[in-house]
Amino acid sequence: MTKHLILGRRSAFLESYKPMHTQTISPTIFALILSASFALPASAGDVEAGAQVFRKCKACHVVDSAQNRVGPHLVDVIGRAAGSVAGFTKYSSAMRESGIIWDEATLDAYLENPRKYLKGGRMAFPGLPNPTDRTNVIAYLKSFSK
Ligand code: HEC
Repeated sequence: MTKHLILGRRSAFLESYKPMHTQTISPTIFALILSASFALPASAGDVEAGAQVFRKCKACHVVDSAQNRVGPHLVDVIGRAAGSVAGFTKYSSAMRESGIIWDEATLDAYLENPRKYLKGGRMAFPGLPNPTDRTNVIAYLKSFSK
């Protein structure tokens, strides 16, 4: 009863509001809808934000083509066995013999602190202490994996 009353009042209000203000109000509503749709849950990982984080990796890694640099390329890294990129000759034996399969969990642990996760590893990168950065960069890497 009360609910109907309120709804009734609201739509009556909108009806009276619309004709005069459609031109000025719609961009605001549009902006609100846009900002709401960009506020995705953090757990899914934000590919755009991950691209920014990946700038820290770019000195050594390429992900958009299968080219090795200081580090192995990261195309299709999800589901890949660690130390398995053909043509990359600079793997540590620790990496080659680790038995790690790269997925969200192993990447998250490795990227948090590469040297701690893989003793004897050769990646000269201190790690990403921020869990959101890791989730986002993993989402970015996933976008280049089958
Ligand atoms: C200073 C250069 C450098 C930077 C910066 C760097 N890496 Fe690496 N990365 C390496 C090297 C070298 C290896 C091989 C390590 C080994 O064999 O122990 C490696 C290995 C890896 C591997 C394992 C690949 C495989 O084929 O098993 C992943 C995944 C990885 N890096 C991701 C990243 C990400 C993501 C970043 C940025 C957050 C990053 N790296 C930053 C040099 C770097």
